[in-house]
This record gives sequence, C-alpha cells and structure tokens, in this order.
Amino acid sequence: MKMIIVKDLKRYYGTGETAVKALRGVSFEIKKGEFVAIMGASGSGKTTLLRILALLDDATDGEYTIRGLQVSSLPEAERSYYRLTQVGYVFQDYALINEMSAAENVYVLSMMEGKSRKESYKTALEALDKVGLKGKHNRVPDELSGGEKQRVAIARAIAKKPDILFADEPCANLDTSNSKQVLDVFKELNEKYGQTIVMVTHEPWHTEYVDRVITLEDGNLVSDEKKQKG
Ligand SMILES: Nc1ncnc2c1ncn2[C@@H]1O[C@H](COP(=O)(O)OP(=O)(O)OP(=O)(O)O)[C@@H](O)[C@H]1O
Ligand SMILES: [Mg+2]
Repeated sequence: MKMIIVKDLKRYYGTGETAVKALRGVSFEIKKGEFVAIMGASGSGKTTLLRILALLDDATDGEYTIRGLQVSSLPEAERSYYRLTQVGYVFQDYALINEMSAAENVYVLSMMEGKSRKESYKTALEALDKVGLKGKHNRVPDELSGGEKQRVAIARAIAKKPDILFADEPCANLDTSNSKQVLDVFKELNEKYGQTIVMVTHEPWHTEYVDRVITLEDGNLVSDEKKQKG
C-alpha cells in the first residue's frame, strides 16, 4: 500500500529574485512499512521536506498524498486533526518537558487527543515499555541519558499509533552507543510492528538500519537506493 506520494514538490522561502529554493521539484513514493532515510549535505532541504511530509509546513507547489488523502488541499482544521492523531514526529533536541516524568511526557499528548486519563496512562506505559524504558517511567528528563530521553520522545510519538513516524536527525546529540540504542528501537518498531518511518540523518553508518536511502542535493532528489539491512 502506498503511504506517501509526492509529486514535483517545491518549497521556496521568500519570493522573486531572492527566493531560497529549498526544494526544487521532488517526487517519490513511500510504501507502508518502509524505513526510509533521507540524507544530504547541510542545507540540501532535508528538514524542509520532512516538515512538509509531517504537515508542519506547506509546500509552495506540487502534490502530496498520505494514504490516498490529498493533504495539500485539506482544510486546515482537518490537517491539524490528522497531524495530531496520525503523525509522529521526533525532534533532534527531544523537546521533553523537564518538570514532567517520562510517563507524564508521553501521557500529556494522549490527553490532548481526548483520551480518558486512565486510557492515556495505560497507552503511555505501553509505549515506554516498547522503547525499553520499563522501570524508568517515573524519572524526569534530568535523570535520563540522552538516548533514554530520545526514547521517551519516541514513546510519545508512537503512543498515538501514527501512520508514519518522522524523525529529524534523532541521534544528532547522541554518542555512538546511545545512537545505536535509538536506532535499534526504530528498527524494532519497523520490523515488529510494521511502523513506517522516515528519518533524516547525516551519518552514513545509520543507513545500515534502513530499507532505503533518498539523497537530496541542493533541493533536488539525486538518488533513491534500496538497502540490504544489516
Ligand atoms: N524559514 C526559512 N526561511 C528561509 N530560508 C530557509 C528557512 N528554512 C530553511 N531555509 C533554507 O532552505 C535551505 C534548506 O534548509 P533545510 O533546513 O531544509 O536543510 P537541511 O538539509 O535540513 O540542513 P541541515 O543538515 O543543516 O539540517 C537552506 O538554504 C536554508 O537556509
Ligand atoms: Mg535539517
């Protein structure tokens, strides 16, 4: 099943002569259950692309379909609802609330979706268990390693059982051992639960974990390669 179809996607910042052409017309499809890495030099358009795919930003031109839904032409309220309930996003800097425990950080988003307190709590604990944080539910971010913090952020993103999990350089602030823990979690979510994942990364060794690598260069898609998983 086709999860994502983008056709000739463009994103210009500003207009006229001085416009920055961050995406110059990118086309590809992603199937349900794929684990895709987006690579490319700094400034090549990776974050711009991911933000559009996750509905955090609008394209200047082109078509974007998620699960057959033409999202580029959805009314804003429906886009927001889809984003809240079906899109998981993991940021480079974790974006956790420091005053809240791991469980509360995950739980807060389920509550926002309108789930009951009891159901939200149960969902939060299940998500934390899935990322290997059993027994650390009550720790605040300061009591967790970088890799553990990022795994809380992943738990928060997957608690809603999103169609797609997006991650923008999720290991950028982590050492090799913490990066491996985080990548192992992504790999397990992909292989065990069939989670579709689109992850931006700079590090060539991260591509050992994925099915496919899309490379951007100066706003263009310059290669799209299937990988043998390591
Ligand atoms: N809000 C913005 N306004 C103007 N230009 C922007 C904006 N966001 C990004 N750009 C420009 O668009 C281009 C692509 O940026 P983008 O952040 O997508 O690159 P990236 O591949 O994610 O880079 P990095 O690896 O450094 O994170 C760059 O030239 C950048 O300066
Ligand atoms: Mg970026």
